[in-house]
Amino acid sequence: MKLFLIAGARPNFMKIAPLMHALEGNKNIEVLLIHTGQHYDLSMSGQFFEELNIPSPHINLEVGSASQAIQTARIMERFEAVCLQEKPDAVMVVGDVNSTAACTLVAAKLGITTMHYEAGLRSRDRSMPEEINRLVTDAISDYFFTTSRDADDNLIQEGQPKEKIFMVGNLMIDSLVANLGKATKTELCFTSLNRTQQIVFGLQFIKKQYGVMTFHRPNNVDEKESLARLIDVWGKVSQVIPLVFPVHPRTYKNIQTFGLQDKINAFPHLYFIAPLGYLQFINLVQHAAFVLTDSGGIQEETTYLNIPCLTVRPTTERPITIWEGSNKLIKVNDIVSEVDLILQGKGKKGSIPKYWDGKTAERILNILYIF
Ligand code: UD1
Repeated sequence: MKLFLIAGARPNFMKIAPLMHALEGNKNIEVLLIHTGQHYDLSMSGQFFEELNIPSPHINLEVGSASQAIQTARIMERFEAVCLQEKPDAVMVVGDVNSTAACTLVAAKLGITTMHYEAGLRSRDRSMPEEINRLVTDAISDYFFTTSRDADDNLIQEGQPKEKIFMVGNLMIDSLVANLGKATKTELCFTSLNRTQQIVFGLQFIKKQYGVMTFHRPNNVDEKESLARLIDVWGKVSQVIPLVFPVHPRTYKNIQTFGLQDKINAFPHLYFIAPLGYLQFINLVQHAAFVLTDSGGIQEETTYLNIPCLTVRPTTERPITIWEGSNKLIKVNDIVSEVDLILQGKGKKGSIPKYWDGKTAERILNILYIF
């Protein structure tokens, strides 16, 4: 089987790494890694390939940043040409980014077998571009690899045949399990984006006495008013416990465009740093008292690590992290009181969902052999 594995944006890289490693040297499956170039710079792409030991992509479509439609269209145009030339038997996509939906559309129309890892997740919030990507991808995929039973139920409800759905567990947790030891040894010393001094673990913040945050959802950061309101709340929290924020480029750009940097600088314990590599980020999270986020994948990583996670979103496509894990959905207005609860030792504790055990790539491989 000639298999194309697609990766485009940061959250895809920790999902494809364990698959690439499992497929290395395989005599029955020839894998070609295609990077769409949706994320392209060292901080959002290159360092993940290095740290996770992912081989260089066979082909890079180099689409870069653009509007939703233009980026999707560019990926489709360039990916179609590659499919026509290379003639893969199957295309596997992961996650819910624009690259996921665009490549599935192309492959399905060319009659190539399509497989979606992380299928069936639904936030029911169509204002998220990722939800549209999930719906489109699953509507036209041939096979579905899921991370939890609720995803299977969603797919079945949407009319997908049971025999094409495989609950395999969580590839992101494969990466976490494989790299936790290495991550623990990384140095936690960062260059600040809003001050001159270095920020050093053990000086400005110490084990279990700081929070980590990440925000980049368009709903939270693309409007000046909502971003300014968030900054006020982050500031308030930082007066109680230091907050370390590896800032996503989308958020950073908006802070500058809206002229909000001074507002941030007014809070001495709000530490803005450049986006981190995988290992440092995991190390930072594992020693945190809590994580404040609007991310998708971090809800899963904190569940595995049993770190209280406050997700500032109205819905989540990963409800298992709430039912079983340490995640909680909250509103902006409740951030301060929820952090307070955690600091009183009343943070949410959870358990690890089924098959989030580091062996998901192995399970996927065993299924690929049957095809
Ligand atoms: C994308 C995904 C989102 C995922 C996120 C993780 C979609 C619809 N969204 O959102 O699901 O959670 O990635 O980061 O696919 N930029 C850089 N360097 C890069 C890439 C981007 O500086 O390597 C900047 C660009 O200025 C760009 C902005 O970041 O305009 C946003 O990037 P984009 O790919 O549009 O979407 P994300 O917000 O990252």
